[in-house]
Parts: sequence; structure tokens; C-alpha cells
Amino acid sequence: MRCSRGGQTGIKRNEMNDRSNTIVVRDARQSDWQNVRRLLDEAGLPASDLGPDLLGHFLIAERSGADRSETLGTIGLQQFDQVGLLRSLVVSDSGRESGLGRRLVAALEANACCAGVKDLWLLTIDAQRYFGNLGYKIMSRDNAPDIIRKTEEFSGLCPDDATLMHKALHDGTRK
Ligand SMILES: CC(C)(COP(=O)(O)OP(=O)(O)OC[C@H]1O[C@@H](n2cnc3c(N)ncnc32)[C@H](O)[C@@H]1OP(=O)(O)O)[C@@H](O)C(=O)NCCC(=O)NCCS
Repeated sequence: MRCSRGGQTGIKRNEMNDRSNTIVVRDARQSDWQNVRRLLDEAGLPASDLGPDLLGHFLIAERSGADRSETLGTIGLQQFDQVGLLRSLVVSDSGRESGLGRRLVAALEANACCAGVKDLWLLTIDAQRYFGNLGYKIMSRDNAPDIIRKTEEFSGLCPDDATLMHKALHDGTRK
């Protein structure tokens, strides 16, 4: 996987024409919190361990029009040295089925790889097939590293029957 940030320098790379508007994937800012919270709430994803100052490794997908911008999606990374937890992937109803979820995952993986993450983990209730198509493998929860077990998402926020998935990130290749 090529190491390149999805934020500032990645904006041009991530630009995509969407009819008259442009959709960019950029680093989240504190001021994005209300929109992130709304998207997570609408999708029924956990947000109680997040806040405006905890969006450092979050990305935002945004449609910029002439007179207003619209937040269409988000995704987050919790990093623990070489281990990462991918979380909070959501695309709003109006942004779905156009590859935006895939773009967010790819941008997050690139950022994670750039930051030295070698193993990405996630928990999902019903998107196993979605992440499977993106190279994630279902793992027994017993295989989760201790640091992932200790996250609030693993230990409390996600139900016990949430599926654990894993993807190894390698420099130069994508698995
Ligand atoms: C999952 C989600 C992010 C996908 O976003 P998206 O931008 O519509 O997805 P993409 O455009 O990248 O991909 C669309 C493809 O994924 C499939 N897909 C979407 N959600 C899926 C799911 N939950 N399970 C399996 N496949 C799914 C679509 O059918 C479509 O398939 P196709 O390419 O064969 O037509 C979005 O549906 C969403 O926000 N869901 C609610 C929150 C959620 O479940 N998040 C993941 C938990 S961590």
C-alpha cells in the first residue's frame, strides 16, 4: 500500500466530480463533531467515547457546492503503535452506492499505513460482506490483541456478537 495522507495533500487525489459538485475526503476538524455525531447516531453506531477533540484520526467525506457543503460520510482510526482499530464508517443515505465508503476505507488505510500501522482490526454487526470485499478476514474474538480488547468499542460499546475482522497492511502491496 502506498503511503500517502488522505488529508491536506490528499484532497486533490481524492477529488471526484459528482454532477456539478465535488466530493472531497479530508481530515476531520473539531468543528465537524456535530455532523459526525449525527451520522453515527443515524446509523446506530457508537459515539459515546468520542468528542470534538477526539477526531484527530477521523476523515470526512464532504460535498462542496457553490453555496454550501454537505457532510456525506466519516471514518475513524484508533492507533496503538502498529495496531489500529478502524471504526465509525458511515455514509449518509444521499451519498451511498457511489463508492464513497470504499474511498473512505482506502484513505484511512493509506493514512494508517503511513503512520506505521501494520494490522487493522474492526468490529461490525452486519457489514461483514462489505469489509470482506475490501480484504478483511473474519477472526475469532479470541484472536484480538490485548490493546484492541481494551478499547471501549470492543469491551463495551459493540455487542458481544459483533464480528471481529482483520487486515494486514503491507508497504507496497495491499492484501
Ligand atoms: C456500509 C456503508 C458505509 C457502505 O457505504 P457506500 O458508500 O454505500 O458503499 P460503497 O459505495 O463503497 O459500496 C457499495 C457496495 O457495497 C454494498 N454494501 C453496502 N452496505 C453493505 C453491507 N452492510 N453489507 C454488504 N454489502 C454492502 C452495496 O450493496 C454495494 O454493492 P455493489 O458494489 O455490488 O453494488 C453504508 O452502507 C453505511 O453507512 N452503512 C451503515 C453504517 C455501517 O454499517 N457501517 C459499517 C460498520 S463499521
